Amino acid sequence: MDYQRFIDEQISEIKNEVGDGVAVNALSGGVDSSVLTVLAHRAIGDRLKTYFIDNDLMREGEPKSVEKQFADMGVPVQLVDSKREFLGALTGLTDPEEKRHAITNTFYKDVFSRLVKESGAKVLMHGTILTDIEETVAGIKRQHNILAQLGIDPEKEYGYRVLEPLKTLRKDGVREVAKLLGFSREMWNRIPFPGPALATRIVGEVTEERLSVVRRATTIVENELQDTGAFQYLAVLLSDKATGMRNNQREFGDIIVVRCIESVDARTATATELPWTKLNRICQAIVDIPGVNRCLYDLTPKPPATVEYI
Ligand code: XMP
Repeated sequence: MDYQRFIDEQISEIKNEVGDGVAVNALSGGVDSSVLTVLAHRAIGDRLKTYFIDNDLMREGEPKSVEKQFADMGVPVQLVDSKREFLGALTGLTDPEEKRHAITNTFYKDVFSRLVKESGAKVLMHGTILTDIEETVAGIKRQHNILAQLGIDPEKEYGYRVLEPLKTLRKDGVREVAKLLGFSREMWNRIPFPGPALATRIVGEVTEERLSVVRRATTIVENELQDTGAFQYLAVLLSDKATGMRNNQREFGDIIVVRCIESVDARTATATELPWTKLNRICQAIVDIPGVNRCLYDLTPKPPATVEYI
């Protein structure tokens, strides 16, 4: 594929579609939404309003670091504190699809339709990629960013049109576009991080306490595994508990699963063969998190497993 041509075509398409109006988009800092943000900013400049929705499901320090990264590239990003809305919508939910549905609804119906109204935008830009569409259509998973594919008419339901300029690319293609747009290696090479964020890594109810456990485990896993060159690595908090011993006391503690995979486009994946010493170090750090007494490494390929746990 000629990626430079792809960039030129998408920029002119965005110009045509938005006309002299305003468009909005949500930036998570992942490579898909970052590429979309820069493409759209090149197309329509300040008529693009980019928001970082702080849903409380992000990794340590993420909102501020994304805002700064884009400020350094001359793209203004507005942080929107929506923590209460998202956690409120997730309270009491344990079913994976219900959790995803609650996030979709809070994102599009509550937070985004409000921002769209405030900004006067008629267009919402989204960094949906081909894999998201395929897996949603195949019924494997409801990705949070698919509307048309689910038969939802955003114009009717939420009052805005959705543009998805990256929907013909897979992750490897998005990375090629990112390089051509001048992204730093750190940015184009960022491991994928799902839209519903840490909620996809909590089996069972998402609460502030459980988020804090999985967030700490995520920091440990990302720090330890960033030098592996693996496609993606993550930590998952299970809903089961296990018996353990701490300070000569029995405790019934949390279980964290570590996942690290090799893949090209996330459609299929295999577990990375990690050195034992590295696995041991990760395990030690993870069981130092209060309340966690087991750490497991997941060897399952995709399929039959998926990458995320919900
Ligand atoms: P699964 O778990 O379906 O993940 O094997 C495949 C790839 O997609 C990411 N993923 C998502 N990305 N919104 C996203 O933007 C989502 O709802 C979502 N669910 C999974 C996952 O991290 C992996 O890279």
